[in-house]
Amino acid sequence: MKRFYWISAPILLTVSFTLLPLTLFESHGQDREQTDFHPSMLAFSKAIIGIDKALPTGDINAMLSHTEVLKRELAEIVTLEPQINEDIIEVFNELRTRIGSLTSELESLLVNRKFANVPQVVNDIRHTCVSCHVKFRATGDETGFFPNIGNVISGEVRVLKLDGEERAKRSDVVVFLEGVKNETGFPLPRKNPVISQKHRRFEPRILPVMKGTTIDFPNDNSIFHNVFSLSKTRPFDLDIYPPGESKSITFPRTGWVKVYCNIHPKMVSHIIVLDNPFFSLTDEKGMFVISGVPDGEYTLTTWHEFGKQIPIIGKEIRVSGSTTNIYSLTMQEVKRSVQHKDKFGKPYKRKYD
Ligand code: HEC
Repeated sequence: MKRFYWISAPILLTVSFTLLPLTLFESHGQDREQTDFHPSMLAFSKAIIGIDKALPTGDINAMLSHTEVLKRELAEIVTLEPQINEDIIEVFNELRTRIGSLTSELESLLVNRKFANVPQVVNDIRHTCVSCHVKFRATGDETGFFPNIGNVISGEVRVLKLDGEERAKRSDVVVFLEGVKNETGFPLPRKNPVISQKHRRFEPRILPVMKGTTIDFPNDNSIFHNVFSLSKTRPFDLDIYPPGESKSITFPRTGWVKVYCNIHPKMVSHIIVLDNPFFSLTDEKGMFVISGVPDGEYTLTTWHEFGKQIPIIGKEIRVSGSTTNIYSLTMQEVKRSVQHKDKFGKPYKRKYD
């Protein structure tokens, strides 16, 4: 793939331990008193195991009844609390909300007998369970990364400021794998990701996507905006369009796409177009989770808006045997702001700053 400019930092720590396979969890559960388990999590586990079993046979009714359990337990999940990382409770709440919306989506697909997207939704549910466990469950119990299938790659990214001091906010670093192959290609996301124009900002500022993805650019503001990019990867100009309208662009090639508005110079968004769906955006604490990774040898790489402007090859890693692999990465910032010109290559008029 085309290389970006980035810094990939040394891997400080590599730990791996065996993940309990899905089916083993059931027997593991029998070893422990059921009262040991959080009741909603126990119900969630049974539901996801049930859905996994029904998926290959296409037994929609079975899947639907397990989905109902997930839905019912969501109401009970209010008693679930993080065991670690309580300081980023918004991330916990977001993951909990995501489980809710994915469950509703799954239910509606099954009720309407629209099977095509079901495996992807189940996969997203699985990833959400794993992400929450990696970030909020105290480890030490081999069920911690349940119900992942394949390998988990997770860890933390530290961000060093220009002066070498550590930045407290470590979000918006893209961590991704290069070299993951799939003969038939990876499925595109079933919904287009969105970069919206809100309060004179592009939201989100950083968006990693897989190549071939179409991104929607709605104008959710009360004023006119323009969206353009002079990037080599995908140059485009959506012209000026009014509030309430949306336009879309497909990104067929990998690379870095800087997106600007020709009217408001402070509106900036970075699209990172990647080769495969194995990527993660760090949260405030710099944590990332990539789940469901097939066995193989890959390059683990990071990208950051203010990262070092030299091409650096990422870290070669090898994962196999359904393991959890934890990496600690460091990223050095080399700048803190970037000046850019308008779409005609001219400086912006000051009054719009
Ligand atoms: C919002 C975060 C979050 C989500 C989403 C989540 N879990 Fe959990 N899970 C937890 C926490 C926290 C614990 C530890 C519970 C405790 O003991 O207090 C846990 C524990 C578990 C356990 C171990 C039970 C125990 O008490 O030892 C299993 C199994 C489990 N979850 C399954 C699932 C499955 C399956 C899903 C997805 C369908 C899921 N969880 C989604 C946060 C989450």
